[in-house]
Amino acid sequence: MIAIIGGGICGLGIGWRLAQAGEDVTVYDRGVAGMEATWAAAGMLAPQAEAEHGEEALLPLALESRAMWKEFAAELLAVTGIDVDYREEGTMVVGLDRDDVEHLEHRFSYFQSLGLDVQWLSGYEARKREPHLARAVGGAVYSALDHQVDNRKVAEALRSAFVDAGGTLKENVEIIGVATAAGRVSAIETADGSIETDTVVLAAGAWSRKLGGLPETSRPPVRPLKGQMVAVQMEPQYPLIESVIWGPGNGVVPSIYLAPKSNGRLIIGATVEEMGFDIDLTAGGVMELLKLAWDMLPGIYDLPLVESWAGLRPASRDDAPILGPTPTPGLILATGHHRNGILLAPLTAKAISDFVRQGEVGSSIKPFLLDRFEKAVTANV
Ligand code: GLY
Repeated sequence: MIAIIGGGICGLGIGWRLAQAGEDVTVYDRGVAGMEATWAAAGMLAPQAEAEHGEEALLPLALESRAMWKEFAAELLAVTGIDVDYREEGTMVVGLDRDDVEHLEHRFSYFQSLGLDVQWLSGYEARKREPHLARAVGGAVYSALDHQVDNRKVAEALRSAFVDAGGTLKENVEIIGVATAAGRVSAIETADGSIETDTVVLAAGAWSRKLGGLPETSRPPVRPLKGQMVAVQMEPQYPLIESVIWGPGNGVVPSIYLAPKSNGRLIIGATVEEMGFDIDLTAGGVMELLKLAWDMLPGIYDLPLVESWAGLRPASRDDAPILGPTPTPGLILATGHHRNGILLAPLTAKAISDFVRQGEVGSSIKPFLLDRFEKAVTANV
């Protein structure tokens, strides 16, 4: 039996691929599958608009996974009947005042230097595409290839696809630790006893570092990074926007984004906060979100506020995921996806299930092995 610890989008995705291949696989979740970071996310698939200086190594992985998404969504629809709302209107990053627009021009040059397929829009052109944007919008970068899904529907679909393919889902079961014998994985430990297994995939998001029994050399350096979000409800027939829109941030919100879903739900996110496992909402966080969103899209003012929540991104030391084998044979990592868990899910599912079955690390994930942190330390000595 292959044990996957964590029933988020990555754990379920890997489990689905393994179950499809006829493997005996069980996904364990400490609560209800898909209800942590997967549920809290906004569903953006935007490696271009979100490309950051210093994260160039991540870009090929993100682009490869983005290219897999449309088919992944179609396959989920075909096997489960659940439409995950894959939307192709694209993503726009807007600048409001002169400073923002100049900053955005620099980002546009950076995007171009990476060879990304992006387009510069004047304020007028941006409003032509999205007429409800504020008059203050003075320029924008448009990325037609950065799409989105409804992450909560993806979780529902994956759960059903996994079980239908023959996988076993055990919810409300906390895996306390991993046991080893002669240095390799031999079992997982629950409050009710041990379960024998020689293969464990650790996909427990922000909780991955907490698993007991791991040798220090195999413990992924992952920490929680809090994100507060809110949602307002648009009329589905008369949405204020159809593309994902990013804009300038402030304080705990480094940049603001609006992700409209086809059912009219408009997600507004997100704070980025080092607060451990705290998921309390704060007046300041919610105020910044609403104020920044209103600056870009004044029409949200009269919309019903339907939800507010916070989630925990699993952030690694270099903000890139940690994928593949560890020094402990039988222990495989699929964690640390930071702000990109939804985007990277199809590739993670394929690469990790391939590794489990064939024992070979695919070329896409080679730069994202756990040992890169050790190499970085050695290189600094
Ligand atoms: N990927 C969106 C966020 O981390 O807020």
